Amino acid sequence: VIKKNLLVANWKMNLGLGQSRELTLGLVELAGGLKNTEIWVAPSATSIAAVCTAAKGSAIKCGAQNVHPAKSGAFTGEISIPMLEELGATFGIVGHSERRHQFGESNQLVANRAIGTLKSGFFTILCIGEKLDERESGATNSVLKEQLDPVLSDLSKEMHERLVIAYEPVWAIGTGKVATPTEVSDTHAFISSYYREKSKFECCPILYGGSVTPDNYASIISIDAVSGALVGGASLTLASMKALAEISDR
Ligand code: 13P
Repeated sequence: VIKKNLLVANWKMNLGLGQSRELTLGLVELAGGLKNTEIWVAPSATSIAAVCTAAKGSAIKCGAQNVHPAKSGAFTGEISIPMLEELGATFGIVGHSERRHQFGESNQLVANRAIGTLKSGFFTILCIGEKLDERESGATNSVLKEQLDPVLSDLSKEMHERLVIAYEPVWAIGTGKVATPTEVSDTHAFISSYYREKSKFECCPILYGGSVTPDNYASIISIDAVSGALVGGASLTLASMKALAEISDR
């Protein structure tokens, strides 16, 4: 069960081996001084081993940006949990909007990834979020329901305890356009109540993601139903991770 605020770095397709290792060593030192915040890092697949090694014995969790639910098989380009476990990884991100919208991953495919990852004992960050036209036409909640339904309909207690939801409005990712505190608060409240209704459990932690920076994070993390952030661009330097961690740990 996750009790602290989470600060999750999604490095996407950035930082090579040396840069990943160096930034991780800085984050290990940073994490050692935090009381109420956990740092999780999702490097590109080629750096997972190095990041896990650099973070070994520290409070930092290392994970993958995508995970395949099968143990092995003919799935070109995919990575399985046993492979990640060997490296020391302990969590996976699934359903990131870039996977859904640039690589055509459907709600059902994402749900299969999520369920397989949860059943294997990994922590799982399930990303959900609406596109701009969906928000503007008032379809946000129904889009989120469709993304949540196939995961929540069959959630055991053990799976529930390892699940983290990241609400990332697609229009706020990498655009510098952050959702307003009201939008974040209303949407997180909706996710939380829908989660309870569908799964019968009190909602898991919900992270906000989308143009989070040290300049806007204080107003986001102070919202009740926000348990942390999934950070892209601002997770790529030690300086901004330090600033975000400081705000989170206040
Ligand atoms: P940015 O923080 O760069 O907007 O990316 C958010 C994101 O997609 C994290 O997964």
